[in-house]
Amino acid sequence: MNKKATPKSANAKSKKDVDGNLKEFFVDELKDIYWAEKHLVKTLPKMQKAATSDELKNAFGDHLEVTKGHVTRLEQAFELMGEKAQAKKCEAMEGITKEGESIIEDTEAGTATRDVGLVLAAQKVEHYEISTYGGLAQLARTLGNDDVAKILESTLNEEKEADQLLTSIAEEHINYEAAEEVEH
Ligand SMILES: [Fe+2]
Ligand SMILES: [Fe+2]
Repeated sequence: MNKKATPKSANAKSKKDVDGNLKEFFVDELKDIYWAEKHLVKTLPKMQKAATSDELKNAFGDHLEVTKGHVTRLEQAFELMGEKAQAKKCEAMEGITKEGESIIEDTEAGTATRDVGLVLAAQKVEHYEISTYGGLAQLARTLGNDDVAKILESTLNEEKEADQLLTSIAEEHINYEAAEEVEH
């Protein structure tokens, strides 16, 4: 009997360890995207200022407000996990936004070409966020934190909407206008 009981409790312990490691990994990833969102709150106004068309300026302005909501949601997620909200530098997001800054430097103000570049940079940001939130929402469910998963999924949907809006802005106006600039 004792022999049977020992491996059973050993298994239970190792499962707990695995869950502990997974939770730690999850919280670490939350810190990463928390840094990224806070960084975007500082970056989006620069992109808004640099944009040429009112349509793109408005899209960045609107997404700035939405992004502030993402920061708040992450703080709620930390709280639900029983953790302190903490930001950890996200090298990937820093790289993507640096690329955006060099696009601003390399293009002329007031041109549709500038907007094409900004849309491209912004879509890279959104795609990074979409993959992160998609993965983290899934992980939250694996960890049995459905409330946290729902919070992350709300943000995921808003990132997808932002991405679609950028696509339609590019397709309907900017790309066409930029092609015109090349011809003239
Ligand atoms: Fe976001
Ligand atoms: Fe976003």
